[in-house]
Amino acid sequence: MASHYKDILEKAYNKIHLLENEGEIATYIPELANIDPSKLGVHMTNIDGSNFGIGDHLEKFSIQSIAKVLSLALAYKIVGEDLWERVDVEPSGTKFDSLLLLESYKGIPRNPFMNSGAIVICDILISHLDNAKVEFLDFVRDLSDLPELTYSDKIADSEKRTGYRNMALCNFIKSFGNIKNEPAEVIDFYFDMCSLEMTCQQLSKTFTFLANNGHKISDDKKIISKTKSKRINALMLTCGFYDESGEFAFRVGLPGKSGVGGGIVTLYPNNYAIAVWSPKLNEHGNSFRGMELLEDVTTYSELSIF
Ligand code: DON
Repeated sequence: MASHYKDILEKAYNKIHLLENEGEIATYIPELANIDPSKLGVHMTNIDGSNFGIGDHLEKFSIQSIAKVLSLALAYKIVGEDLWERVDVEPSGTKFDSLLLLESYKGIPRNPFMNSGAIVICDILISHLDNAKVEFLDFVRDLSDLPELTYSDKIADSEKRTGYRNMALCNFIKSFGNIKNEPAEVIDFYFDMCSLEMTCQQLSKTFTFLANNGHKISDDKKIISKTKSKRINALMLTCGFYDESGEFAFRVGLPGKSGVGGGIVTLYPNNYAIAVWSPKLNEHGNSFRGMELLEDVTTYSELSIF
């Protein structure tokens, strides 16, 4: 099985590498504008631990919104089903940083992966933890088996200087009463959370717990229940790519999550997680070549959740 996938990954990588590198790098976070747009890496980790990658798969990049899945996992583990009183589970059909639907839904974000929803998740973590920044980092360190992992001050500071839209979102939600802590503290944690950096290898391994019914693959430690794992995967399938979530499900057929750093993680329950990185984004804020490559992987393997 593993060697079969190695061939598939190589075939997809070699094809995508020759394609025109379309799209634009995200520049609204100034630090992200410095990235080499030609980067392309992909790594697959199977739940039996076997793994392989190609290209720039061992280079760290800013995982950005991909971290929203990890903050959701921690908040869901702590709060349980009450979480859904604060954040909905519906696709938004809007851009990731949209303010639009908050007015109609009285400060309840449509889902935890839009910026608005992830900001509410940060607020929930602050309310339930003594030190959310430290404890979230510890959670991810454990999940990834990366005890040295830290936030990137460079990226977080860069976003803190320019993140007016996220500050607006946080204040707007606060006006409806769905942010309980001080907006400045919540948004500060949100920017740190988004600043995590990982390689494709580290990221694919980190996400295998969602392909393994909520258990880490390295030591079988239970992170979240099977049901919670199923629900998070369902949310990734329906909301992981904002107004392009339908397109990703249509073309790739797996749950996944993108970030404006050009990363995408996707996973096939009971099988594998794949992380791909190519910094240029399409008009929906998702990695152009990342989506193409993952489409080829499920096409060549003839396996998806459908
Ligand atoms: O809040 C932001 O705008 C970024 N820190 C994260 C956005 C993001 O990654 C959207 N993903 N495609």
